[in-house]
Amino acid sequence: MESQRYILDCDPGHDDAVALLFAAKFLSLVGITTVFGNSTVDNTTRNALAIVESAGLTIPVARGLSAPLTGEIHSGESVHGKTGLDGANLPAPSMPPITGNAPDFIIDSARKLDNLSIIAIGPLTNIATAITEAPDIKDRIGEISIMGGSTTFGNATPAAEFNIYADPEAASIVFASGIHIRMAGLNVTTTFGIARSQVKKLQDADNLLAKEIGGALNYYLQRQTKIYQREFAPIHDVCAVIPYTHRDLIRYADMHVDVECNGTLTRGQTVCDQRGLFAGEGLTTPQPINTAVAIDADGKTIVQHVMASLLSYP
Ligand code: RIB
Ligand code: CA
Repeated sequence: MESQRYILDCDPGHDDAVALLFAAKFLSLVGITTVFGNSTVDNTTRNALAIVESAGLTIPVARGLSAPLTGEIHSGESVHGKTGLDGANLPAPSMPPITGNAPDFIIDSARKLDNLSIIAIGPLTNIATAITEAPDIKDRIGEISIMGGSTTFGNATPAAEFNIYADPEAASIVFASGIHIRMAGLNVTTTFGIARSQVKKLQDADNLLAKEIGGALNYYLQRQTKIYQREFAPIHDVCAVIPYTHRDLIRYADMHVDVECNGTLTRGQTVCDQRGLFAGEGLTTPQPINTAVAIDADGKTIVQHVMASLLSYP
């Protein structure tokens, strides 16, 4: 049987950078697609190319969409800085992205490859565009594992997590697509991260890439402390990779999830129907299950694996 293949759709972004380097250690990534989000798509594409090249990886990078399907662009600059990866001084990439945009790369890959799944760790604009332009690929994509949403609080607003809030219409299309979704939301991804001492270990490393990622995470941790009073750097996006590399480290519950697109206070909220979790007599979720939602994680072990992978690059 052919081994599982993956596309990583991302908006690097500090935690995207960690997720990309971690995923590349364990998974067969057929391509990286970039999207606006933490920064402009020019910046996220440049950052993805720089990370791939500095890590000595040979994974094609396809540039994605620069704005949401509808609505305004919400910037991630307050957390990730003007470049989208402030604190890292990676050499400028020498290679350009491949020709053709991210949705076309996703469509072509899905039509060509069996056993393809997508790991989406930014706004879902590329994915929604691809499945709208080519509905036939919905039956060819095994699963979409996202970092996004939440069963509880938001970060972009009290109700909405950034990736969903950045393009609620795209997220709604993806959750309603019929493709099985695996969702790692803030309710889990904010419960652990890379500690200050571990960031320092990366900064003091001899290997260049670990040192630069350490510099980036040091900047990111400073922003996390200032904005959220956090003493660790949450690695939200890695949680969308873990189910394919270390399945037992995150626990999931099956739910129906939909996205609120019209609420004044709740636009971008992932509405997770948890009634099936308290399945008392007759109390069952009346909606079809479309998502495996992360409800718990062994954060300490995840961070150990992430640190080992980052320190293993030259
Ligand atoms: O809310 C966290 C998400 O928003 C992560 O994907 C982070 O990279 C930002 O894009
Ligand atoms: Ca991201």
